[in-house]
Amino acid sequence: MEHTLISPLDMHIHFREGAMLQTVAPLSAHDFAGGVIMPNLVPPVDNLERLLHYRAEIDAAISGTGFTPYMTLFFRAYSEAELRAARPHIIGIKLYPAGVTTNSQAGVQRIRDAEPTLATMEELGIPLLVHGETSGFVLDREREFLPIYAHLARRFPRLTIVMEHITTREAVALLDEHPNLYATITLHHLQITLDDVAGGLLQPHLFCKPIAKRPEDRDALLRAALAPHPKVMFGSDSAPHPVSAKEAAACAAGIFSAPVALPLLTEIFAQHDALDRLQTFVSDNAQRIYGITPPQKTVLLRREEWSVPLRYGDVTPYRAGCTVAWRVVMSRYDPVGHS
Ligand code: NCD
Ligand code: ZN
Repeated sequence: MEHTLISPLDMHIHFREGAMLQTVAPLSAHDFAGGVIMPNLVPPVDNLERLLHYRAEIDAAISGTGFTPYMTLFFRAYSEAELRAARPHIIGIKLYPAGVTTNSQAGVQRIRDAEPTLATMEELGIPLLVHGETSGFVLDREREFLPIYAHLARRFPRLTIVMEHITTREAVALLDEHPNLYATITLHHLQITLDDVAGGLLQPHLFCKPIAKRPEDRDALLRAALAPHPKVMFGSDSAPHPVSAKEAAACAAGIFSAPVALPLLTEIFAQHDALDRLQTFVSDNAQRIYGITPPQKTVLLRREEWSVPLRYGDVTPYRAGCTVAWRVVMSRYDPVGHS
């Protein structure tokens, strides 16, 4: 059995820099036609010069693969001139509340202070991508942030706001309350709950922000993805860390899912008899929501078991050592179709 996807997109990825980038970026570039590249490097990607330099590093690592890195700036107070200059080079700006996740120390302390920049982004049509967590109790952080999303959606009604990597049924429900709110959903939040992370022996490779929640939450995410809800997009949040940072007393947050993302999504949609809807979740919704035309790429998956490697370079992938039922057997970039 085979299944073809056209120009699949990963709307939330961490590529990192240097040697890590060289290891991970080609894996996404093989299976996907584009992806939204997160800016939480050290120091963050928060000016155009750094962004262009980072883009060039990515392009060099994946040249010829037909993968567009949709770049993001790290949110800070930007002037209108900075935003106008950056606009042709970015798909959006990523806002992190200060300190809520990996490399977010330079994030926003008070949302109110962000509003002048948000007003200019709204004027210029630059989407806002948000890591929506407070610094409250870990299981409540996303829910506590939802009123902030609602406030921003009302205050800036023409601003496209993407709730990144949603993990709760309440976040899914919020999509229907505000026309300008959208969301990405990861692979792992469709599969795991907090029980998988900490219910037995602690699983550092399943530890990420936002932390996986309750079965009811996972089921709500799965329903939204399988439908698919017209306002949700696939975004893996693939976030590689070296093994030494994961298998440590203070384990870094992040799950590296890039090499298994498309096979496992296909497996999930096939299990739910919804393969015909995968294209919408993994590409068409994102094209419509962001108004993008990715490179023309045909990706063929076949129902054929394979075993996930234990390591890619220095990183343990999601489902390392497990058997996956589908695999990518062909990925063809057709430059002619690309505008
Ligand atoms: C991400 C990372 O490692 O950069 N970690 C994670 O747990 N998801 C940051 C993020 O997206 O929160
Ligand atoms: Zn992320």
